Amino acid sequence: MEILILGPQGSGKGTQAKLIASEYGFAHIATGEILREAVTAGTELGLRVQPILEAGELVPDELMIELIRNRLDEPDAAEGFVLDGFPRTLVQAEALDAMLAEIARPLVAVFEFLIADDVCIQRLLTRAELEGRTDDAPEVIAKRLALYHEITEPVVEHYRATGRLVGIHADRPVEEVFGEVQAALDRAGVA
Ligand code: AP5
Repeated sequence: MEILILGPQGSGKGTQAKLIASEYGFAHIATGEILREAVTAGTELGLRVQPILEAGELVPDELMIELIRNRLDEPDAAEGFVLDGFPRTLVQAEALDAMLAEIARPLVAVFEFLIADDVCIQRLLTRAELEGRTDDAPEVIAKRLALYHEITEPVVEHYRATGRLVGIHADRPVEEVFGEVQAALDRAGVA
């Protein structure tokens, strides 16, 4: 069962992806987390992407596509996965579609988290105080959200055209958002 979550930074993709993964036994594949772990570990990938993450820019498509191709091959993804943070560009979306077609694993649900920018900004500023993520500085948040609207929203339209896109009202408490997600997964036949 393959699930995709799209939505602006701070909309709660990671929070809900973790809940789905734990409730349904799927792998949670979060590209931002994979990249931050590489930065912390000081790997070649980490050194390359660190300035990009800190600036709130997007990591090049070829690198991200390769990373996802390898990650989907890992054993924990065999029963299903929740993708959080990928795809963010049309090139990535088309690469993902091709990868999934190749292995005959279609997406069962694509969620679009609907929420206003000002709510996202407030959440990320709160997270900055609690966790100190370097890209949660005000000017970097503004850059990330601008890139979402410019580059990632066309990806939402790409999936809307498939008829599998489900809008989720993400400006509500975590449990309520998860309730709506679960209802949509029930309708999609995910057990
Ligand atoms: P990534 O880690 O994916 O960051 P992001 O997209 O900015 O997402 P966030 O983690 O900020 O938001 P989220 O929607 O997951 O919300 P969360 O649940 O955490 O990417 C980081 C960077 O990596 C990118 O900028 C880019 O450089 C690079 N990158 C990654 N993927 C890439 C790709 N495919 N292509 C190119 N580059 C890529 O919640 C946010 C906060 O809100 C938390 O504190 C949470 O506790 C709180 N919260 C969550 N839900 C609620 C709720 N319902 N009510 C109140 N608070 C809530």
